[in-house]
Amino acid sequence: MKPPRLTSVLALYILCICVEVSDHHRVSSRKLELIKQEVAGYRDVAKSIIDLAVYGSAQNRSYERLALFVDTIGNRISGSDNLNNAIKYMYKALRDDGLQNVSLEAVKIPHWERGKESAMMIQPRKKNLSILGLGGSVGTPEEGITAEVIVVSSFDELHRRAAEAKGKIVVYNQKFVSYGETVQYRGRGASEAAKVGAVASLIRSITPFSINSPHTGVQEYENGVQKIPTACITIEDAELMARLASRGVKIVVNLYMGAVQYPDADSFNTVAEIVGSKYPEQERYMLIRGHYRLGRTDATILHPFLVSAECVLWIFPQ
Ligand SMILES: *[C@@H]1O[C@H](CO)[C@@H](O)[C@H](O)[C@H]1NC(C)=O
Ligand SMILES: *[C@@H]1O[C@H](CO)[C@@H](O)[C@H](O)[C@H]1NC(C)=O
Ligand SMILES: *[C@@H]1O[C@H](CO)[C@@H](O)[C@H](O)[C@H]1NC(C)=O
Repeated sequence: MKPPRLTSVLALYILCICVEVSDHHRVSSRKLELIKQEVAGYRDVAKSIIDLAVYGSAQNRSYERLALFVDTIGNRISGSDNLNNAIKYMYKALRDDGLQNVSLEAVKIPHWERGKESAMMIQPRKKNLSILGLGGSVGTPEEGITAEVIVVSSFDELHRRAAEAKGKIVVYNQKFVSYGETVQYRGRGASEAAKVGAVASLIRSITPFSINSPHTGVQEYENGVQKIPTACITIEDAELMARLASRGVKIVVNLYMGAVQYPDADSFNTVAEIVGSKYPEQERYMLIRGHYRLGRTDATILHPFLVSAECVLWIFPQ
């Protein structure tokens, strides 16, 4: 078997957070300290891997593999044919790369389809708004939802002006602080708007930068709260509507979303192993997790196996 070409994968290890998980997913601070020391011991190894991947003979390889993958497969939202193709592609790629124990594990996954969607500001003037439905959103009726807009810059402002929000489309024009902090507007913006009687919500994309480009992701409806259609809009359009509203101008938007939630679909986890050479008998695993699921863009989170790992876990049985 030819040796695995794994430098890019390895480069990723050191970019990731190392944690030891006990049976109860808790880590004592003493153990964490030991892990930090152990990880620090690999500084030189890590540097040589980075140098190889960034400056050396493996330069551009992750990028080129990513480009080949996304050009061939396209976007891969959960439950889609593209996702099935992506899984077949990766299964073969992992085997071709000489990884061991490459296997597929059956799993049920959500199946939501965005469908056709559009939004148009119809008052004070006609302007198409560039939108992307948020994952899991309900759709609108066939004729869409046409309603007046209330623009808020925070949940506090929404709550203060709750009486004005009834029957309206809430536009969140929150300032971008950081992804981690600001993403709550996408996560629970729809339910917060629904609680004050809004009929839909449009959320400024969670990003510091925009070229009239909406950025989507998941959102979660709160149990027991009316589910209203929700989509993200661009920074430019959110600011436009905020400026209009600040001048007391009445804004009316028509929102159409053909989104549909289907029953969970059959799919697979893709599992592969690089069996360690030093302690193969000790059942110590470094676990790298990446995800295939990308709804609209092809590569924002980069290659699922090469770059999209979210954590690395050292698991010591008992
Ligand atoms: C990697 O890509 C850069 C930019 O396109 C190029 O200048 C460089 O020669 C490439 N390196 C290799 C090893 O192909
Ligand atoms: C995984 O692969 C290694 C090396 O090819 C092999 O020795 C081992 O039996 C495999 N484990 C499983 C669970 O198949
Ligand atoms: C909005 O988009 C639709 C569909 O692409 C197009 O027919 C219409 O002319 C656009 N309207 C405006 C005001 O740009």
